[in-house]
Amino acid sequence: KHVAVLMGGISNERPVSIASGTGCAQALRNGGYQVTEVDVGYDIAEVLRELKPDVAFNALHGRYGEDGTIQGVLEFLRIPYTHSGVLASALAMDKHQAKIMFKAAGIPVTDHTIANRAEVARSHVMAPPYVVKPVADGSSFGVFIVKADQSHPPQELLREDWNSGEEVMVERYIPGRELTCAVMGDVALGVTEIITDLSFYNYEAKYAHGGSRHVIPAEIQPKIYDKVQKMALKAHAALGCRGVSRSDFRYNDQAGPDGELVCLEINTQPGMTETSLVPEQARHAGHSFEELVAWMVEDASC
Ligand code: DAL
Ligand code: MG
Repeated sequence: KHVAVLMGGISNERPVSIASGTGCAQALRNGGYQVTEVDVGYDIAEVLRELKPDVAFNALHGRYGEDGTIQGVLEFLRIPYTHSGVLASALAMDKHQAKIMFKAAGIPVTDHTIANRAEVARSHVMAPPYVVKPVADGSSFGVFIVKADQSHPPQELLREDWNSGEEVMVERYIPGRELTCAVMGDVALGVTEIITDLSFYNYEAKYAHGGSRHVIPAEIQPKIYDKVQKMALKAHAALGCRGVSRSDFRYNDQAGPDGELVCLEINTQPGMTETSLVPEQARHAGHSFEELVAWMVEDASC
């Protein structure tokens, strides 16, 4: 099979996508696929029409790559592609819409409000501690935690080079632990706890060497482990996701007898470098990186 690995793109997460795509392309070659690496730009429709791959392996992250846009182009070209389709991608990319779907499916989420970034920078729109994040970006771009004793909202929201959208989400801060769970088809691959010494699991913690530590299987009570996996499967189904996704959670083990567990978001195009969370969980579940990407190619559709 000829696989076009789509990577790069024009979102804030371009460098992350190049890392994901390069790794996946190599693993696919090792698995015997014929691979073309495609750096996605505005001419992507023409490039794909010319190339005529059997499958497009979507290694893009963020705007245009994760939000239903490229998925629409691939549908139009009738090229089978990996991961979620148009609607699930669009819903997942918009954290506000995703939460509406989660709530309808009975998945617990944190309270939030949506406001213009200038308004959020002016005064506290919610009593601290709270978190400010773009409604539709990834890799922690433009995410700020406002601590309980912080007098001013983040002034970085006013930066002239801000390009994470005008609308931001302000949500109640959940103290405690960061958990994540990948889904592959209809199977949850395990639960990882992410531990970082940095202020939170921000861009640096995600991608700088030694920025964070992944504990898999997460050292939490078996019933919470199970609950996280069930919630990840439910989130995947609630949005109609396909192939591989990764849901992120906060777990406050100090809140009441069972603690408080909330789903923060679902990523329909999770990081796919060899040391990213999803390949790590796949390995934990017994699938090598080569097997994982091969499964994704065979699962592709349009
Ligand atoms: N947005 C990054 C790539 C992730 O979710 O892994
Ligand atoms: Mg994300």
